[in-house]
Amino acid sequence: MDPNSFANNSELRKFWYPIARATDVNPGPMSVKLLNQNYVVWRAADGFSVAVDRCPHREAPLSAGSVSDDNLSCPYHGWTFSGDGVCVRVPSALPDVPVPPRAHLEILGVVERYGLLWLCPQPASETPADSIIPNISQEADSTFRRINTPVEIWQTSTPRLVDNFMDFSHFPFVHTTTFGNSNETVIPKLDLGPLEGDFYGYQYGVNAKNPSTAEATSGEQSSFVEREMSTGFCLPTFVRSTIAYHSGLSHILLLLSTPRDDFSSYFTFVVWRNDDFSTPADEIISFDLAIGAEDKAMLEQVSGLLPLDLKQTVSVQADKPSVEWRRQFVKLLEGAGAD
Ligand code: FES
Ligand SMILES: [Fe+2]
Repeated sequence: MDPNSFANNSELRKFWYPIARATDVNPGPMSVKLLNQNYVVWRAADGFSVAVDRCPHREAPLSAGSVSDDNLSCPYHGWTFSGDGVCVRVPSALPDVPVPPRAHLEILGVVERYGLLWLCPQPASETPADSIIPNISQEADSTFRRINTPVEIWQTSTPRLVDNFMDFSHFPFVHTTTFGNSNETVIPKLDLGPLEGDFYGYQYGVNAKNPSTAEATSGEQSSFVEREMSTGFCLPTFVRSTIAYHSGLSHILLLLSTPRDDFSSYFTFVVWRNDDFSTPADEIISFDLAIGAEDKAMLEQVSGLLPLDLKQTVSVQADKPSVEWRRQFVKLLEGAGAD
């Protein structure tokens, strides 16, 4: 096995990961993949239900079935399951024959947070507290609005995504059609430390390009705009960037990467901002979506897994934040916890 493989690591199964937008499961069923396992998600009476995407009868994918009256029916022989996993109907059975006890589904833990469904790949009784989902204080602040974006599949390994989000020396080279400023390639010395909330990272100032396509997001019309930023990670794979403009506008990005397997990821981001709520959400996020598309186009050209041994890649001072994330991620994989 590739020594850089991480998707079967048991330590990663102790966290919650975003796997779908809640509005996209209506009522489902939807197929999702997390850490090498396929799951089926559907909306039932009491909320969302998630189970391994394999029927206990002959292993058909339940996500190819249908949801009716909160129940999930298998496409193969019609066995039907309630939201708590109980097999409530075996169509071939005579009326007085009970359902076999092993016909029931094991339901996994799922929580809804920030408009997303977060899955922990453990039986519901063994999931960690959902307080380990990174806290974004602006969610409870009525001067901020939240904007969700689609959950995309990126054909790149999740550590490469996180490494990218912790890095800003690529801005002038990758973000050429958005905010990258080709005159600002030098990265100042960075001090890492705890940031507000559950994040660890750095603060910095950026003189960003502000093309007309960025005006709805920045609220500014000049060709360049000063941003005060912070970027930090929350283990295992989450990154938050905060952008403060001199106008008082604050734009928070939660960049969420979920390992489907070693080589592909879900990516979605959530925005909070304290504007006057007058500009439509689609216009606000179109610039950020264009930035994400630039990262995706770059990362999907980088093949294979990010080496977990830091010495296998060459890093310079500007890489200090991404190296620190990788160091803590490796420690987590080793079961040593983070520091
Ligand atoms: S395989 Fe699902 S009902 Fe037979
Ligand atoms: Fe980027």
